[in-house]
Amino acid sequence: MHLPLTAHVTPPEPSRSSHHEQHALTPEGALRLLVMRATERFRSCGKFAYYFARGKLRTDPVFATLLSQQLLPDAPRLLDLGCGQGLVAAWLDAANQCHLAGLWPPQWPVPPAPVAIRGIEIDVHEVERAQRALGQLAQIQCADLRSTALSDCDAILILDVLHYLEPGLQKSLIDRAHAALGADGVLLVRIGDAAGGIRFTWSRWVDAAIWRLRGRRSSVLAFRTLSGWVDLLVGAGFEVRKIPMMGARSFANVLLQAKPTSRPPAALEPPSPLP
Ligand SMILES: C[S@@+](CC[C@H](N)C(=O)[O-])C[C@H]1O[C@@H](n2cnc3c(N)ncnc32)[C@H](O)[C@@H]1O
Repeated sequence: MHLPLTAHVTPPEPSRSSHHEQHALTPEGALRLLVMRATERFRSCGKFAYYFARGKLRTDPVFATLLSQQLLPDAPRLLDLGCGQGLVAAWLDAANQCHLAGLWPPQWPVPPAPVAIRGIEIDVHEVERAQRALGQLAQIQCADLRSTALSDCDAILILDVLHYLEPGLQKSLIDRAHAALGADGVLLVRIGDAAGGIRFTWSRWVDAAIWRLRGRRSSVLAFRTLSGWVDLLVGAGFEVRKIPMMGARSFANVLLQAKPTSRPPAALEPPSPLP
């Protein structure tokens, strides 16, 4: 989905009286406005960060999906694992500002408004960009998910990250996510479906290229089929629902919403630190 930069505000209808309705946007207009506002934060981080943010926010359907569906209700403490340069925090903040100003599509729910966002990211350059762009908005920690304790929280995002971990460490992370979430917590995971045919082959090639461009030597990219990912989540004590993403076409990526159904057997620690 490619969206031009200029936001389109629907003209107020004479019969509508409330401030909120007079400034109601179409979903397409709201997305254009949100991309502009969220991207502004990255202007001070250099051209790469700015254009990467603009391109990703414009084209990745997960961002629109986060707002058009009620996926993160009542989530004051949000943990974004493998947060990259912090696009989700910037996106949610832009959404809340637009919503408060009444610039919001009437058919969309109230956007999630976390009061504490913590991001964990292994790449120091991503961390620096995120910290610079987000400031006080989020706490971004440079750490390895394979060996980092997860704080108690209400919602966890793991978007396009799990396949960078070996299978046993994927399980460890999902178990720790379950332990960190409250009973009403929500985990949103986006994964690549290894049974996704040519679209999966393409997205795996893109991931491997990006991973190498970032200077990572490890060749581990551990994918599972969709049913394999669901089994992993169910085995950790989650019930799982597949979320349709707005306008998703070219990649075999699947968004899953997982909610705890049972408490984990014991408090879980991350595995011992890696060399
Ligand atoms: C494809 S990017 C996704 C970024 C972000 N979640 C998003 O959707 O925009 C995957 C991110 O996971 C991070 N990552 C991979 N392995 C990690 C690890 N062991 N610990 C922390 N972050 C990791 C990478 O550095 C990268 O920023």
